Amino acid sequence: MTASSSLQNALPRFITDRRSVRAFSQKAVPETLLDACVSAACLAPAPHHSRPWRWVTLGKKGRSDLAQGMAASWRQDLTADAVEAKEIDRLCHASISRITAAPAAVLGCLVREGLDTYPDNRRQQAEWNMALLSLGAGVENLLLTATAHGLSGCWIAAPVFCPDAARQALRLDAALTPQALILLGYPHHAYTPPERPPIPLALYRLQR
Ligand SMILES: Cc1cc2nc3c(=O)[nH]c(=O)nc-3n(C[C@H](O)[C@H](O)[C@H](O)COP(=O)(O)O)c2cc1C
Repeated sequence: MTASSSLQNALPRFITDRRSVRAFSQKAVPETLLDACVSAACLAPAPHHSRPWRWVTLGKKGRSDLAQGMAASWRQDLTADAVEAKEIDRLCHASISRITAAPAAVLGCLVREGLDTYPDNRRQQAEWNMALLSLGAGVENLLLTATAHGLSGCWIAAPVFCPDAARQALRLDAALTPQALILLGYPHHAYTPPERPPIPLALYRLQR
């Protein structure tokens, strides 16, 4: 057994099995599994025992409203970037189709709940960054739980670029800042994720 294959064997299957899957079967996702995914997200580590997130499960209309709202915002950005109109149409259409085709979706939002307040911007920003790190841990918990139940998911960055549009599209409270969209469903039988590149530990693991 080579050193790299024994390292590979040391990784838990629940970590290696999670892949970003971008095509789903039409089979519905049971609400109980969505509850389990959101519960797992809520077990994420968070700064000073806070729970600075909300997880919005999106039904068919919610997915459509969000997709349309974010695409309208993206259209504005692309227009300002002077992207050709036909290409803008193609990109926006693809984005809407992808989100509306997913059988389920969860929108991870940040809230200020439980966070400390500082008089200066530097520490206030650090506090917000901590909450954001916690939200990322929550998304991973959610994805790992989905995977353990035979579901697949894909983390979609779009809300980071247009949190106001996402909030408005779903008529969410102003206290919520949308950050991460997670598409969920049973994987389409024909979808194969790209092969993962090797992990050169000498590059990623630094030591002092
Ligand atoms: C913050 C974040 C944003 C992402 N946004 C997108 C996205 O908008 N569209 C997409 O297809 N995948 C997105 N991904 C998924 C990554 O492309 C994926 O995790 C990466 O290629 C590694 O593949 P794997 O998840 O199958 O291991 C995102 C991942 C993260 C962490």
